[in-house]
Amino acid sequence: MQQNYQPIGVFDSGYGGLTILKSILEELPQYDYIYLGDNARTPYGSRSFDVVYEYTLQAVMKLFSMGCQLVILACNTASAKALRTIQQNDLPVFDPSRRVLGVIRPSAEKIPFYTRTGHIGILGTSGTVLSRSYPLEIAKISGDHLVVMQEACPMWVPLVENDEIDNPAADYFVQKNIRNLFRHDPEIDTVILGCTHYPLLIPTILKYLPDHVTLLDQGPIVAQSLVDYLIRHPEIDQKCSKAGSRRFLTTESVQNFEPRAGMFLGQPLTAEKIQL
Ligand code: DGL
Repeated sequence: MQQNYQPIGVFDSGYGGLTILKSILEELPQYDYIYLGDNARTPYGSRSFDVVYEYTLQAVMKLFSMGCQLVILACNTASAKALRTIQQNDLPVFDPSRRVLGVIRPSAEKIPFYTRTGHIGILGTSGTVLSRSYPLEIAKISGDHLVVMQEACPMWVPLVENDEIDNPAADYFVQKNIRNLFRHDPEIDTVILGCTHYPLLIPTILKYLPDHVTLLDQGPIVAQSLVDYLIRHPEIDQKCSKAGSRRFLTTESVQNFEPRAGMFLGQPLTAEKIQL
């Protein structure tokens, strides 16, 4: 390993963050990356605040110990429940020069550019929805004039994690949650996929989403926001090594992880099993 190996860490509870990493690699291929999926303990979506925080902090510390100066929480649930505490309480004590970023703020920032009716729909895990992180961030950025309706989709991550996206059950649950969302607010014209697992369900989602609605996929949004961040923060950019390497870590068995992860990333990969 080269001397100044300081990769960008990308973390998710499982496979979902690979949909974000895929977009990041398209924009910023020159950097070194370590992806960590906590597949052994996924899903995080229905876990308590304390547990999501504890697991996420363990993952961030692992990535720091491997040289990462910058870690992206490529998971809405972890961003909603752990990011603020890590930024405000843990980083100042551990190392104030390191950075941990999430996926909710960059997504919330994009909303005003898409909506005409001012009515926004959020599809996410129960944890993300209950945290109210999206309505709060959107109000901070755009003020109170946007109407935000959320729908928790607790079955979507298990469908994706268990490779059941082509099962009729996927159609059933996707249709049910989208119907609920629009029953509560028919004026919604912009929907955020507020969970990094959901892009795998896009073909099914598009079947049930009204045609005039814009669907925002977080991968390209987060990737562009990271590009902007590294331009605005050259002191962080300088600390990220750029040898174009990729490492993939999972807390589950490599045999389970590799084929599915390759599907999410869109290319084959080799992984290593670690313990947190
Ligand atoms: N991929 C995660 C997210 O974006 C959630 C998956 C889970 O429930 O663990 O929210």
